[in-house]
Amino acid sequence: MAEQSAITDTSLPAATWTERESRVLMSTQRRYPIVVDRGEGCRIWDVDGRPYLDFLGGLAVCSLGHAPPAVAETVARQAAQLIQTSNLLYTLPQIELAEFLIERSPFDRIFFCNSGGEANEAAFKLARKWGKAHRSGAYRIIAAENAFHGRTLATLAATANSAYRQPFEPLPDGFDFVPFNNVDALADAVHDDTVAVILEPIQAEGGLYPASEEYLADVRHLCDERGLLLILDEVQTGVGRTGTLWAHEQWGIEPDVMTLAKGLGSGFPIGATLAKEHCSVFEPGDHASTFGGNPLACAVALTVQREIESLNLVAHVAAVGRYFMERLGDLRARHPDIADIRGRGLLIGVDLAQERAPEVLQALRERGLVANALSARTLRFVPPLIVSQEEVDEAVQILDATLSAG
Ligand SMILES: Cc1ncc(COP(=O)(O)O)c(C=O)c1O
Repeated sequence: MAEQSAITDTSLPAATWTERESRVLMSTQRRYPIVVDRGEGCRIWDVDGRPYLDFLGGLAVCSLGHAPPAVAETVARQAAQLIQTSNLLYTLPQIELAEFLIERSPFDRIFFCNSGGEANEAAFKLARKWGKAHRSGAYRIIAAENAFHGRTLATLAATANSAYRQPFEPLPDGFDFVPFNNVDALADAVHDDTVAVILEPIQAEGGLYPASEEYLADVRHLCDERGLLLILDEVQTGVGRTGTLWAHEQWGIEPDVMTLAKGLGSGFPIGATLAKEHCSVFEPGDHASTFGGNPLACAVALTVQREIESLNLVAHVAAVGRYFMERLGDLRARHPDIADIRGRGLLIGVDLAQERAPEVLQALRERGLVANALSARTLRFVPPLIVSQEEVDEAVQILDATLSAG
């Protein structure tokens, strides 16, 4: 018998919940057949009490794992004190979180919102306003093929993949696409009306392709030469995920604008757009969000950042991520089923030799490991940043057993 959770009756079987879901929710997601009741650390439990090792981590979100005591305590304390005021009033957690992030990044100003898509929307508006003021109305933004920047209309317009775009066309104008990791193609695509370039340091949803060693430095140089803003979408790579606090540190460059979301609140919804002073052109009335930067979200995100720092998690991610890659490398040497391993830190993609990711994922789940796929061929592993070497060993053993079983 499953434990009774605080809010819902988890004594009902999973099939009852999936049937109820199918009657009331919009069908936007193909879900795995696991009805999750609770989590702790790097594990989740379904309503029947079955544990799973969670290498999906809320889709690269749960930095501190599930139910971290410091976050639970902050949520309870802040909820009892103040949840929402609107941005017409000042609140302390918002200012403290902004100071914390600015002290640890090359940026001067922050706008808080609730998701990655919104953070990118704010970056686009900032670039357009900057273009009006400083570049004679230039407004077009160049994005990379195979990138993913969100599901709102403007972020879809910045996403080249036609599977995402096509059902919703026509999309807003103003975005051009170039192949990733090819600075010559980017230089050719710059015109008088180009105002900015947006890139992910590691294309995550697109299959886990890191920028090449020299690409981001070359793009930075091109942007400086041509008077363009460089926006880095670190929604997935930011906040320690890749083994440095911000992924761009590993390429030795600084963007003008950076967007964050996923790991920032370790599961509590919050997004942020960070910009250098020279392009922080928003004035009152230009942009806003009712919930963005509310005291509850900011207090949680501040606790998350302090925990990441005090637990020295960024160095841990670099070390445990290296260990994970080595173990996967050992597996690859024994399993011709593994064609490639890519990524940095705890953002790792494993290419299978054949297009059988869905069946491999199902077999992993049956053995107690949850992950997801970026394509029919590519598995993604994004465990919480607190994952231990022993938990990595357990995941690799499950993958080993699954691939050995055929
Ligand atoms: C790089 C990147 N940008 C933007 C987004 C969109 O974030 P959200 O789903 O919070 O709107 C995602 C989500 O996967 C992402 O990976």
